[in-house]
Amino acid sequence: MRAKPTPDQRPLEHEPEFNQFVEAAMSRRRFLQVTGAAGTVGFFASSSISQAIAKSLPSQSNLLGFEGIAISTADNIEVPSGYQADVLISWGDAVVKGAPEFAQNNNAAAQAMQFGDNNDGMSFFPISEQRAVLVVNNEYTNNEYLYPHQGEQITADDALKAQAAHGVSIVELSKLDGKWQVNVEGRLNRRITANTEMDISGVAAGHPQLKTKADPSGKRVLGTFNNCANGQTPWGTYLTCEENFNGYFANTAETELGDTYARYGLNNTDRGYDWYKHQARFDIAKEPNEPHRHGWVVEIDPMNPNSTPKKRTALGRFKHENAALTINSDGHVVVYLGDDERGEHLYKFVSKNQYRPGADSNRDLLEEGTLYVAQFTGTEGELKGQGQWLELTWGKNGLTPENGFPDQASVLIFARLAATQVGATTMDRPEWVAVHPDNQSVFCTLTNNKHRGVKESQPLNVVNPRETNPYGHIVRWRPSQGNHRSDSFEWDIYVLAGNPEVHPTSLMAGSHNIHKDNMFNSPDGIGFDKAGRLWIQTDGKYSNEGDFAGMGNNQMLCSDPKTGEIRRFLTGPIACEITGLTFSPDYKTMFVGVQHPGEDLAPSHFPQGGNAIPRSSVIMITRKDGGIIGA
Ligand code: FEO
Ligand code: CA
Ligand code: CA
Repeated sequence: MRAKPTPDQRPLEHEPEFNQFVEAAMSRRRFLQVTGAAGTVGFFASSSISQAIAKSLPSQSNLLGFEGIAISTADNIEVPSGYQADVLISWGDAVVKGAPEFAQNNNAAAQAMQFGDNNDGMSFFPISEQRAVLVVNNEYTNNEYLYPHQGEQITADDALKAQAAHGVSIVELSKLDGKWQVNVEGRLNRRITANTEMDISGVAAGHPQLKTKADPSGKRVLGTFNNCANGQTPWGTYLTCEENFNGYFANTAETELGDTYARYGLNNTDRGYDWYKHQARFDIAKEPNEPHRHGWVVEIDPMNPNSTPKKRTALGRFKHENAALTINSDGHVVVYLGDDERGEHLYKFVSKNQYRPGADSNRDLLEEGTLYVAQFTGTEGELKGQGQWLELTWGKNGLTPENGFPDQASVLIFARLAATQVGATTMDRPEWVAVHPDNQSVFCTLTNNKHRGVKESQPLNVVNPRETNPYGHIVRWRPSQGNHRSDSFEWDIYVLAGNPEVHPTSLMAGSHNIHKDNMFNSPDGIGFDKAGRLWIQTDGKYSNEGDFAGMGNNQMLCSDPKTGEIRRFLTGPIACEITGLTFSPDYKTMFVGVQHPGEDLAPSHFPQGGNAIPRSSVIMITRKDGGIIGA
């Protein structure tokens, strides 16, 4: 049914030497399995192999101009010497003129004028040397901090407050004395929340599965929520990606929901938001189609505060992580998209029409195109191979009425089921994707997956080779002939995160570019700067014990893809995740997100200190000598 891939014979830009070692290690694993000598994956008796894995340092990088820092378990931000980290804005700070000051008992109306909670992906839009707009996702809320009652009994007003803390914050920045700061007077300042009206656009718009009592057109929806990571277009718009939308819906009918719900994690209970108790649209029993109106990529024009955001159905419905957009050499827009769930997939969208610099028609480029899903092939243990993009187009690859797909809209609305139908590879939670600035290679974080090799539906495969994968890895691929529209690609594993101190003799040590001074787990946010430094942010275990001993708090690292070297650049406060990154155009200011410090009531008071409750914040990093970050 599917064409065989045509392997691109060109070597990868950097053939990481660790592959040799891992390859040897994997062969050893197969040997052990065959002989029944090892019960757990990745246990190697051979110390020479393990030493090769853990101690063969990559060559010295010319790109990384800072000294890597130690781990931290402190309740603050640490950066390399010569750098400075300042808080730019925190949950509850004023965004719109007239907003009250932050207080835990602020109501919904106040929150709707303030910076949302749990900031995640963000993009910087320059207007002039002195003026810019920062657009930031506000992913979710923590009941224990959002409400003085810690979520004991969530009222209708409480639900509205949480909805106002979700969505997107659009904040003008001005440069004063060489430093960016929030301009609360800014004309473009805006909050987009779970109640902002938006359009549903593209092939699925108006489909019967998207119609509700409140919206018989199936083209108009209230709000966006669980806005995880993001994307930025060259025509000046922002893409916000809806991730765990299922957590806001409950089914009070207590009937079993079918596969099209179950596959998206929709069931009889929500994740403690209680919105369904106060607003019928969040009760699947009352509005069975409302969940179909969430799980999309939303395009926002931050330069027009009156613009209506558009949900772009052509990019498919799943638990979107980010949207890594590039312009292919022929002008077609290509967007790489991760679906962050254990055993879900990696996608690619290709626009029907071409990008033309400055043209108004660019505004509709995400309206129409073709969606694909990745299938990785190769030889077990090689940690590299070929892959192909399988088309998710109605009538092709078994996407037909007899398999449950009556039309293209249903393929997009139920993209996960379509991906299974065509034979996509199950992945270890695809989070962010980033395209190298040379436009030749693409990277995706596979954050971790406790089900890998454990659940029957998620056996070990060529690109997800470690049982329970507690540390995560980053896969890199190169489109054939440098053409992002090509159906085939070549891939390798850029880094296997691991702990060479705790697991010195196993594949859990990680790849050769992991050592005791740069260990981390659960890579999540990634992004490139213009020079090609790969910035890696973590959302992992911060116990600093057991398998995670020596890793400390969540952090941000920086890597040189040419040498594979990785150095720790930043450590975050207690129980936070580091997520979201963007730069000023001169790359002299970097914006980094600190999300959920003190989650689960861990003892954080970041950023205010004292007895203050912890607040997610955007951090601004500069160099004391005014230089380029990382250089
Ligand atoms: Fe919102 Fe997959 O992180
Ligand atoms: Ca994430
Ligand atoms: Ca994550």
